[in-house]
Amino acid sequence: MPHINIAIDGPAGAGKSTVAKEVARQLGLLYVDTGAMYRGVAWLALNYGVSPEDEEALVQLLEKHPLCFERNGQGGLDIYHNNICINAELRRPDVSSLVSQLSVYPKVRAILTRWQQEFARNHSVVMDGRDVGTVVLPHADVKVYLTASLEERTRRRAEEFQAKGFDVSVDELRRSIEERDHRDSSRSVAPLKPADDAHCIDSTGKPVQQVVEEILALVERICR
Ligand code: DC
Repeated sequence: MPHINIAIDGPAGAGKSTVAKEVARQLGLLYVDTGAMYRGVAWLALNYGVSPEDEEALVQLLEKHPLCFERNGQGGLDIYHNNICINAELRRPDVSSLVSQLSVYPKVRAILTRWQQEFARNHSVVMDGRDVGTVVLPHADVKVYLTASLEERTRRRAEEFQAKGFDVSVDELRRSIEERDHRDSSRSVAPLKPADDAHCIDSTGKPVQQVVEEILALVERICR
């Protein structure tokens, strides 16, 4: 297959990562989870006690303690800090609560956007996030905007947390997702919104494989 970039954006819990991973696997492309990079910044801030309100300190933190990425056996990227894989840490509830606060900062976004664009230049990718089709890869070959109802997204996230052994209240989770949606879509820099040329897919009530097939059909139609 020629060099190809697929962008999948949407709100928390829409099923982006599950679907993007599977599309990447079936097409043999690299899966890049941009949310994990923002989570990496939140994890660093918590780990080093840097205030989430201090943009400059966060930029310095990223320069002093860079995150490293390595392709893993599942076609995605593992994130390392000081030679330790921190993937599992990035899903912690305290990281999830902090991350959208940090992702409003233009200087933080500029650094992460550069990393993401470099991956897309050097590899054919399926990249998921909030601003991939609008800002990171405005010329992506295929753009998908994936949504699902708030109820369904809350249920999926609750199941994810429970499977990892985190004890969460569903009402609290719904509130935190709503808050995160609001922050992600109302920020002035790179807000969450569909690109003008994105294909919108509502995954409410749809099995993963059905969404994957819809995207593969789009890829086939557009990139053939
Ligand atoms: O997809 P996720 O839940 O892991 O993303 C975590 C947070 O990172 C999300 O609330 C907003 C931020 N984010 C972003 O601002 N831009 C992206 N491209 C990806 C994630």
